[in-house]
Amino acid sequence: MRYTKKTDKDNNAVAEIIGGWGCDFLVSRGKKYRAEDLEGILAYEKGKIIGLGLYYIKKDCEIVLLETFVQNKGIGTKIIEKIKKIARESGCPRVWIITTNSNINALRFYQKRGFYISNIYKRAMDKSRKLKPEIPKMHEGIEIRDEIEFEIKL
Ligand SMILES: CC(C)(COP(=O)(O)OP(=O)(O)OC[C@H]1O[C@@H](n2cnc3c(N)ncnc32)[C@H](O)[C@@H]1OP(=O)(O)O)[C@@H](O)C(=O)NCCC(=O)NCCS
Repeated sequence: MRYTKKTDKDNNAVAEIIGGWGCDFLVSRGKKYRAEDLEGILAYEKGKIIGLGLYYIKKDCEIVLLETFVQNKGIGTKIIEKIKKIARESGCPRVWIITTNSNINALRFYQKRGFYISNIYKRAMDKSRKLKPEIPKMHEGIEIRDEIEFEIKL
């Protein structure tokens, strides 16, 4: 397996993965992001992407998408560490990430990786659904309702 920084050549493959989340863009905090808007770390095995972290650096570094297709092998952790390093080198004071109240696995995962809850945006998913009606209402029996922001200081 190898980890690489996303280049323009990866945009089609990344767009396909983004498409798996309902349409051709992601929404975070009321903003739309397409594959070409985001930098990323890709985990490749046998020519296929088996995990990716897409991020956006402004003053801080936001991880807009973290997803692995082979789970519990350390890939997600490794991608986070690589993004933290890039963010630190870019002078970002923190890395932050949005997940939802219903993503129990992510709530566990980020806390165990040293992230703290830094904000809760109640009912923010209503606003996200205005931009992206494809976002489902429920996940594993829980209403997808609030955005939970996690951060780690660098
Ligand atoms: C959340 C997500 C990115 C985690 O990715 P991952 O690649 O499974 O993460 P890791 O393998 O690094 O860590 C997961 C667990 O596997 C364990 N693990 C890592 N390597 C392992 C190994 N070789 N053998 C056994 N367990 C291992 C880790 O210790 C960790 O457990 P812990 O959290 O209890 O400490 C992944 O579950 C995912 O894609 N979920 C769907 C999309 C999603 O919800 N994304 C986040 C929303 S913002």
